[in-house]
Amino acid sequence: MAGFIIAIDGPSGAGKGTIARAVAARLGYRHIDTGAMYRALAWKALREALDLADEEAMAALAARLDFEIGDGVVRVDGHDAGWAIRTPEIDKAAATVARQPKVRAALIARQRRLGASGGVVMEGRDIGTAVFPDAPVKIYLDASPEERARRRATDSAHAVGRGPLAIREIATALEERDRSDRTRTASPLLQASDAIAIDTTALPIDDVVRQVLDLVEKRTSPGRRNG
Ligand code: DC
Repeated sequence: MAGFIIAIDGPSGAGKGTIARAVAARLGYRHIDTGAMYRALAWKALREALDLADEEAMAALAARLDFEIGDGVVRVDGHDAGWAIRTPEIDKAAATVARQPKVRAALIARQRRLGASGGVVMEGRDIGTAVFPDAPVKIYLDASPEERARRRATDSAHAVGRGPLAIREIATALEERDRSDRTRTASPLLQASDAIAIDTTALPIDDVVRQVLDLVEKRTSPGRRNG
């Protein structure tokens, strides 16, 4: 058997990337970061000087964009965009295109194709609710707003600075994006009713990985399924 789909959702800075990567490595699964797709789309749109508010144009670009996302590599139309997609400008632009229903439909279709053969840990905001509502394992990660801002500030992929001022600025920007993600009408950030929530605020990474692996074991072992 090729493996299952493990859906990991939650807000920015909850630990999704770190946990999804570690769980995928332990299981020999592929790790798919769907946030990188919204970022890649926004990056390409800005590069082509397209209007981010033009939903038709954004959806068309989402459907044809040639991207390769996985194992720490983000390549968009042949360009290495790994660093370029993690700037404050792209944070905002990605949240803008992620609100557009036609963009979401195009990217969700691509995410379903990528996960169709199983054996993936897919992280995002709507994996357990909209992309793979039948995934056997759904995790919703969260952490306190302060801790999420602190993590973002010290994350080298989001190189912005670590002082108290930088953290306050990041906290404000995170709050804005959270609001955008939670209040949009097209697949908002939401905990699936059958997802297991883990608050990672005070938990070491290894503990969270262990909890997720235990859950995978429980939910996917033949004869041990209990719903
Ligand atoms: O996880 P991230 O910060 O890289 O995500 C970038 C943006 O894309 C963020 O505004 C949330 C949005 N997103 C989404 O709407 N749905 C997903 N499945 C993944 C990300």
